[in-house]
Amino acid sequence: MAKTRKFLSLSFFIFFLLSLAFFPFQSLSSSHTKTYLYAGCTQQTYTPNSPYESNLDSLLTSLVNSATYSSYNNFTILGSTQQDAIYGLYQCRGDLSMPDCATCVASAVTRAGDLCRQTCGGAMQLDGCFVKYDNATFLGVEDKTVVLKKCGPSVGYNPEAMSSRDAVLAGLVGSSGPFREGGSGGVRGVAQCTGDLSFGECQDCLSEAISRLKSDCGTADYGDMFLGKCYARYSTGGAHDTSKAHGKSNNRGQKTFAIIIGLLAGAAILIVFLAFLSKICLRQGK
Ligand SMILES: *[C@@H]1O[C@H](CO)[C@@H](O)[C@H](O)[C@H]1NC(C)=O
Ligand SMILES: *[C@@H]1O[C@H](CO)[C@@H](O)[C@H](O)[C@H]1NC(C)=O
Repeated sequence: MAKTRKFLSLSFFIFFLLSLAFFPFQSLSSSHTKTYLYAGCTQQTYTPNSPYESNLDSLLTSLVNSATYSSYNNFTILGSTQQDAIYGLYQCRGDLSMPDCATCVASAVTRAGDLCRQTCGGAMQLDGCFVKYDNATFLGVEDKTVVLKKCGPSVGYNPEAMSSRDAVLAGLVGSSGPFREGGSGGVRGVAQCTGDLSFGECQDCLSEAISRLKSDCGTADYGDMFLGKCYARYSTGGAHDTSKAHGKSNNRGQKTFAIIIGLLAGAAILIVFLAFLSKICLRQGK
């Protein structure tokens, strides 16, 4: 019976430690960088326990490890045969810190693995990072396929808002580098190319994304245009503006917080109840 009690207090202690360990990270991590945006898997599948699978595993591990020190990288794993070759890259949003980049890529890799079970290739775009792998090489190849288009509600024609949006978008094309950011008044714009594109390819891809944003999203108060290798997004301070987006994730954080508190309380009550039961049983056993 002393053993049972020891076991109970030990498990309570472990539980307490675990909850302490998870709390701060859960509530403090910038959860919006891991917000899911889109994903895709190839049709072809690979054989389980094949050389391809082990190459895929080492590719994904390389991506996750590399994201601790670089915001972009590509890897090619050449198998013993051409059929086992695999190519992959990740790109973190240019303004993410290294720890956030690593967390994001790890999360994207996990999600892609879950979603694209046994498919040769997969792609996963989260708010803060992009991960793609395939057995056909796509590294250094421009890709302007529209993969995700989202337009907010139309604010009606507001010439001032539209001209400052157009100016912010033009500013994005006018800057250099794979990551671009701009703002004016309430309007915010952000653009990102994957690091494997040349400057010219990045320009071309972003010009396409931005002209599509203008034509497809019209007078919407926000727009997201994700092409195969680049994206451009804007918000005009309406429903989708960044501070409100943060507010949303805070709400989500508070919900998670409340759920965890609830679970902790529930578990504590259960443990106390079990301890009580075991005491009664032990007494009856005597
Ligand atoms: C990728 O793998 C699939 C399935 O094994 C195969 O049919 C396809 O030819 C491969 N593609 C390349 C480029 O090797
Ligand atoms: C892939 O990575 C290698 C080594 O990091 C680099 O030299 C090469 O330019 C990269 N290729 C592309 C297409 O980004």
